[in-house]
Amino acid sequence: MTTIVTGAAGFIGSHVAAALMARGEDVIGIDNLNHYYDPALKRARLSLLEENPQFTFVKLDIADRESIMALADRYPAIEAIVHLAAQAGVRHSLTAPFAYTESNVTGHLAILELGRRLPRLQHLVYASSSSVYGANSKLPFAVEDRVDTPVSLYAATKRAGELISYAYSHLYRIPTTGLRFFTVYGPWGRPDMAAYLFTEAILAGQPIRVFNNGDMRRDFTYIDDIVSGVLGVLDNPPAAARGEVPARVFNIGNHRAEPLLRFVSVLESAIGRKAQLIFEPMQPGDVKETFADIEAINRCCGFEPRVSIDDGLPRFVSWFRSYHGTDERVPMASAG
Ligand SMILES: NC(=O)c1ccc[n+]([C@@H]2O[C@H](COP(=O)([O-])OP(=O)(O)OC[C@H]3O[C@@H](n4cnc5c(N)ncnc54)[C@H](O)[C@@H]3O)[C@@H](O)[C@H]2O)c1
Repeated sequence: MTTIVTGAAGFIGSHVAAALMARGEDVIGIDNLNHYYDPALKRARLSLLEENPQFTFVKLDIADRESIMALADRYPAIEAIVHLAAQAGVRHSLTAPFAYTESNVTGHLAILELGRRLPRLQHLVYASSSSVYGANSKLPFAVEDRVDTPVSLYAATKRAGELISYAYSHLYRIPTTGLRFFTVYGPWGRPDMAAYLFTEAILAGQPIRVFNNGDMRRDFTYIDDIVSGVLGVLDNPPAAARGEVPARVFNIGNHRAEPLLRFVSVLESAIGRKAQLIFEPMQPGDVKETFADIEAINRCCGFEPRVSIDDGLPRFVSWFRSYHGTDERVPMASAG
């Protein structure tokens, strides 16, 4: 079985690629290694993946539609796509809006067009985001809730990806599943996200900025739970029987809304140092709380998150220390 993983040099993509290979599959990884954050971290993830002969890397921008569609002639045996490449980050979408439409709308469409051209494709699983719930106040967020009040361009492009995918599933019978990820953290995590930013600052004796005066909650999801969820979903494509459109969307979160200040205090214990907090107002584009209803993905695919922040944050800190401090190598997590 051969699977394309887009965003393979990214945080989630590198873990998913490693887990697919751990169960014996071949992976074609696509990434443009852009500079949104330090590409050295992307290269370090890639070099671990490239130790495995089952991995092939193709450096490509998903918005380069001709090159993306040409992959169908080069690799006609592909049976699955896990599409994770995107311009991520809510705050950056305020300053670099076109990066979001290029990668998350044009690029997403190019991946669907590739899907159309692959005769053996069984399933296309792609990343959406909890941010599509925008200003919703009903908690937990459920997939049946309305999602037409995005509060950032990032969220709007992720919702656009869901709608475009539905249209392609309807028109061309491509089985698609969108996964609304809820704040993912863990080893090899993203430098623009709280776990990384806070750990870096606490270790350097620098203050950390806490928005909405600390009155925020997030459904933090550990990377190993995400990986087993992605693989479980990939193995269960939506049925196209009885004229149904083979398209669906799931939440994938931990089903716990953790107060931000508890997150900080667990991190302080893992690091062994107190944080200096600077309380700041809510940032434009941000939401106060996220909390995932995961019943649908549990029913479909047996998804059950297992790792709380009490266990996950110490594992993140230990990776952070070894990545930045010594030459000791920390392997990718693989699906449990
Ligand atoms: N990490 C989270 O908490 C989270 C939450 C919600 C949604 N998501 C979504 O999950 C997916 C993976 O996120 P991540 O945290 O691993 O982010 P990431 O930035 O680490 O990974 C994305 C990868 O895609 C690549 N990429 C970006 N634009 C590209 C393009 N045009 N062509 C080719 N490659 C491109 C980047 O170089 C990067 O390596 C993204 O779609 C993101 O929007 C993540």
